[in-house]
Amino acid sequence: MGITTRGTARRVLVAGSGAREHALAWACRRSADVAEVICAPGNGGTGAIAENVDLRADDVGAVTRVARERDVDLVVIGPDAAVAAGLADACAAEGIAVFGPTAAAGRIESSKRFAKQLMDEAGIPTACWRAGGGEDRDALRAYAAELGGRCAVKADGLALGKGVTVCDSVAEAWAAIDGCLVEGRFGEAGTQAIVEERLEGREVSVFALSDGERVWLLPPACDYKRAHDGDLGPNTGGMGAYAPPSGVDVDPLLDEALRLVIQPCVDALRERGIPYRGCLYAGLMLTPRGIRVLEFNARFGDPETQVVLPLLASDAAALFTACAHGELGAGREPSRAGAAVGVVAASAGYPGAVMTGAVISGTDSLDDGVLCFHGGTRGAGGDALRTAGGRVLTVVATGSDHEQARQRAYENIARVSFDGMWTRRDIARLGAATAPLAR
Ligand code: AMP
Ligand code: GLY
Repeated sequence: MGITTRGTARRVLVAGSGAREHALAWACRRSADVAEVICAPGNGGTGAIAENVDLRADDVGAVTRVARERDVDLVVIGPDAAVAAGLADACAAEGIAVFGPTAAAGRIESSKRFAKQLMDEAGIPTACWRAGGGEDRDALRAYAAELGGRCAVKADGLALGKGVTVCDSVAEAWAAIDGCLVEGRFGEAGTQAIVEERLEGREVSVFALSDGERVWLLPPACDYKRAHDGDLGPNTGGMGAYAPPSGVDVDPLLDEALRLVIQPCVDALRERGIPYRGCLYAGLMLTPRGIRVLEFNARFGDPETQVVLPLLASDAAALFTACAHGELGAGREPSRAGAAVGVVAASAGYPGAVMTGAVISGTDSLDDGVLCFHGGTRGAGGDALRTAGGRVLTVVATGSDHEQARQRAYENIARVSFDGMWTRRDIARLGAATAPLAR
């Protein structure tokens, strides 16, 4: 299958606490080689399949100390904050194998300006753009006006997924520019802003594992970022996802993404002396003029991971280990029939402030084969399972097609309840249109 590994991972530490990390821990646990998974800090769901240790994922010193003390063979990094904090660098310094990029390679996500510059230099197709700080405010405003206000304004740094404003008018664009540069709405992350051409088309997320040189492609997916049905309401971390994208020929899409986007990006980073080892996530827009990169992320997506990993035929831990050791065989996950659909159950008020501590019931009454990846939960075992965040859990079903998977996911999530629970009702409701469309 193209995977070669110098070492096998018997003990894996997954850094992070969301449903993405629950899915990563679950996938590693399924590996024949993995005997034990430790989650730092994990959640109420990971506690059932792994040992939770109460550390922040971005507390680099503490996580590496535990990894060393517990003789961990592989650290798998979930969240962007841990990448940006240098968890991979610290692991490497301690001789611990790590799946996840160094902070320098992770700038592909943590600095949009860096990513845009790299894309231009490597000839990777992306929206036309300008960037600048406070002293460039007038130039950015002029550029937004030149685009007729139809642009996206982005904070340069990590802003919890909230740093992008897609604008329809010059007034909106100017307000967004000032939000970054004058009002300091995103703090440090917004001291530099990007204004870019607004793209139209379908959005698809492509996930590529890399060992710094070679690439192994996973099934692509679509996620739903808006809070409400019909892609309305505020942006969220993601309210659901499905894989593979419908109405798209996956193999030609992956061929093109590899040739135009993924391999040039991996090569450009290596040539700069910062090889990328981990999951490179390319958010793509399929425009009438061809594919364009909306953004790179230096990690797996949430909730896309929850639908991508259940579709893998390969041993995920073996792939991650091969990336960490620089021994990945190039290739892609064999495409298989069927689909996976994941629906997120959120707390009242999300994506704003939420109440936590509500008792969760019904997670033990799901059909066989239906997965429940916990995000913001705590407790379980002896204690009641309770909500501990905005996106509480993702229920994932597979099926012979999207419709079957969608129905199973919704039938099962209806058995789960907690005070204030809500979901989007239209995840993977594909019908005539092939949602989600960019707005
Ligand atoms: P990003 O964090 O850069 O992916 O942006 C978040 C979301 O904003 C994307 O998933 C798109 O829906 C939207 N977006 C970002 N850039 C653009 C663009 N240039 N044109 C249209 N929509 C965009
Ligand atoms: N689902 C979008 C992200 O993980 O960034």
